[in-house]
Amino acid sequence: MLAELEQLESDALGQLGEVTDADGLESWRIAYLGSKGRLKGMMPLLKDVSREDKPAVGKRLNEVKTALEAAFEARQSAALAGGAAGPAIDVTEPGLPGGGGCRHVLSRTIAEVAEVFARMGFAIAEGPEVEDEWHNFTALNIPPEHPARDEIENFYLAGSEGGLKLLRSQTSTVQIRAMERQRPPLRVTAIGRVYRPDTHDATHFSMFHQIEGLYIDRGVNMVDLKTVLFQFARNYFGEEAEVRMRPGFFPFTEPSAEIDMKMRVKDEWMWVELGGCGMVHPNVLTSAGIDPEEFTGFAFGLGIERIAMRKYGIPDLRWFFENDARFLRQF
Ligand code: DAH
Repeated sequence: MLAELEQLESDALGQLGEVTDADGLESWRIAYLGSKGRLKGMMPLLKDVSREDKPAVGKRLNEVKTALEAAFEARQSAALAGGAAGPAIDVTEPGLPGGGGCRHVLSRTIAEVAEVFARMGFAIAEGPEVEDEWHNFTALNIPPEHPARDEIENFYLAGSEGGLKLLRSQTSTVQIRAMERQRPPLRVTAIGRVYRPDTHDATHFSMFHQIEGLYIDRGVNMVDLKTVLFQFARNYFGEEAEVRMRPGFFPFTEPSAEIDMKMRVKDEWMWVELGGCGMVHPNVLTSAGIDPEEFTGFAFGLGIERIAMRKYGIPDLRWFFENDARFLRQF
């Protein structure tokens, strides 16, 4: 009888593997586990087994029964999950909403700001994030002893081949690259990352984004500069935007000004510096091979994070880079 049980088990499992649909599965159940099935059919044989063998055979009978029932259930749930027995899933059900991603608020701000300047006729220019001293300092009229070149103000790269390299500290580098590439008239913006070893706080981070603007042509003046910047502010932030310019100093512009905007930082409204601007210094034009007697131009550089903070009421710059989905999903 033990041999017959083994045979029954292997027949049953073998056939179960060949079942392809729900009807086949049901026929299998009836054939093996049904009330007139092969397993039940073995029961009467038990009475012919000798007394001493009975416990062992009885135990084996139960084991086979349990094994077949388990195999049946496994096959049935596989079929329900859309297995070979056909799809038991209702594909017309609406389903659960997926956890979709969203655009980062900075990417969004960058696209919006570029769009406003594009409407004013500014094309997009680009430059590398790893720069040489010429584009980051020298061509921008920053002399060798200037503190802006200091090691503690910059991320210099060790062992740079072909002269000292650094992670650019300002997008003003792209002014030079754009002038090298194209003769005036020239009207471009460049948006990208810049790097400085600043201590992180609500308005500073060691990596941030700037937008650089450059307009060079015959007869460009300070009024054009002020008009473009105030137009931008009113267009992007609304008529009520409060912007101011105050005299400043940058080696690459003369005269120079700083641009401030009223913003809420940590529950308090205050003037926050958005960036700098001015008339391109004659030395910078000369470095790029442009005659300052013939052409003049203006330039500006603004912090993208601070623009986004003002636009979307974000009180702390560090939040942009913490990758907290609860924050990021709001935009
Ligand atoms: N590069 C300056 C900075 O990082 C910002 C700046 C000031 C850019 C004046 C300009 C400019 O183009 O004319 O702080």
